[in-house]
Amino acid sequence: MLALSLDRLGTETAFETLARAKALEAQGRRVIHLEIGEPDFPTPPHIVEAGAKALRDGHTHYCPSPGLPVLREACADHLSRHRGLPIDAGRVLVAPGAKPFLFFGVLATCDPGDEVVYPNPGFPIYESVIRWAGATPVPLPLVEDRGFAFSADDLADRLTPRTKLVILNSPANPTGGIVDRALNVEIARVLADHRCWILSDEVYAELLYDGDHDTIASHEGLLDRTILVDGFSKTFAMTGWRLGYAALPPALVEPVTRLVINSVSCTAPAVQLAGVAALEGPRTEVDAMLAEFRRRRDAIVPALNALPGVSCVTPRGAFYVFPNIGATGLGAAALADRLLLDAGVAVLSGTAFGEYGEGYLRISYANSLELIEEAVSAIGSVLASLEPQPEGEPDAARRGEAVRPSHQ
Ligand SMILES: Cc1ncc(COP(=O)(O)O)c(C=O)c1O
Repeated sequence: MLALSLDRLGTETAFETLARAKALEAQGRRVIHLEIGEPDFPTPPHIVEAGAKALRDGHTHYCPSPGLPVLREACADHLSRHRGLPIDAGRVLVAPGAKPFLFFGVLATCDPGDEVVYPNPGFPIYESVIRWAGATPVPLPLVEDRGFAFSADDLADRLTPRTKLVILNSPANPTGGIVDRALNVEIARVLADHRCWILSDEVYAELLYDGDHDTIASHEGLLDRTILVDGFSKTFAMTGWRLGYAALPPALVEPVTRLVINSVSCTAPAVQLAGVAALEGPRTEVDAMLAEFRRRRDAIVPALNALPGVSCVTPRGAFYVFPNIGATGLGAAALADRLLLDAGVAVLSGTAFGEYGEGYLRISYANSLELIEEAVSAIGSVLASLEPQPEGEPDAARRGEAVRPSHQ
């Protein structure tokens, strides 16, 4: 018999879609992969070499649970330089990926009965771990007409005396939207009157196409309330190395270290030394990767907008587009299914990111321009074969209204 609590633990359907696509490939079908959230570039060679050298040098044993001091220092310096934050290395912890900090951040701050405000559509792990902790998820809808942002009033309306944590994600998965400085000023004003923790997931902060990243932690009084999560997976194309870090409020450093000790003990030291090389080494490959993502974004957005029944906002960061497919007349999950089976194109249903994702698809453009163009044309053929839909009012999803009841 399994634990009852497992009913509350969700998952990330990207991995399930990948498995379905791989099963089709095993049957001889050709599939273009636009479902996966990882850069399609190799890890830069100087980082690989630093990791390999560390292994050869014997960094193959346990190491301090909070992380190697040299990496904690490098992360603190990096955050100071790139986010303008006065971060002391003592508040930086390291883990195998950014993801453990989503889990640990919620577990360290939330009890059953507490409420957590989180972006929806959003990274599915937020809602999953909130439920796992026994807390109540309170979705904050991201609205297409606002470039997939929300207003400070939307946030204020969702705060109650039971709100223990507010989760923010900028640039965002799955929408590519951002929380800009002006909105952060307003959010800071709202949160000044409300004692709760903030978890700011900034794993895409350095994959931003215009303007500077603004972190909520830089706003008055919020550094000591914010768990700032970042990692190496996206910026440095290091998804398989499993390396992430967080700058924590001082009061959370010891409890989260205990969660690290209870779960993973420590993060592989050779991987951490590769992380030091990533933060301190040349950024040539990272800059080239961003330039290539921009080229693809600038190709895929107009191509999608030219398809019948599709409209697509230009994302400001990350490597995802989140086209509105409401006018195709098919639900998001049904259309994602058709695209996989009929066109051999793997994308995710917006509903994989919460109920406010209905009416959208998430397409990752971490694939070559040639394959992206081929995929969009194959999607076009499937859409052209659907019954035409009458023109009407802008759909509910675009206005940020839930289009189906919240699931349990
Ligand atoms: C918004 C967001 N946060 C966190 C993560 C986890 O990243 P990591 O590979 O560092 O665990 C992802 C990965 O897709 C993500 O999209």
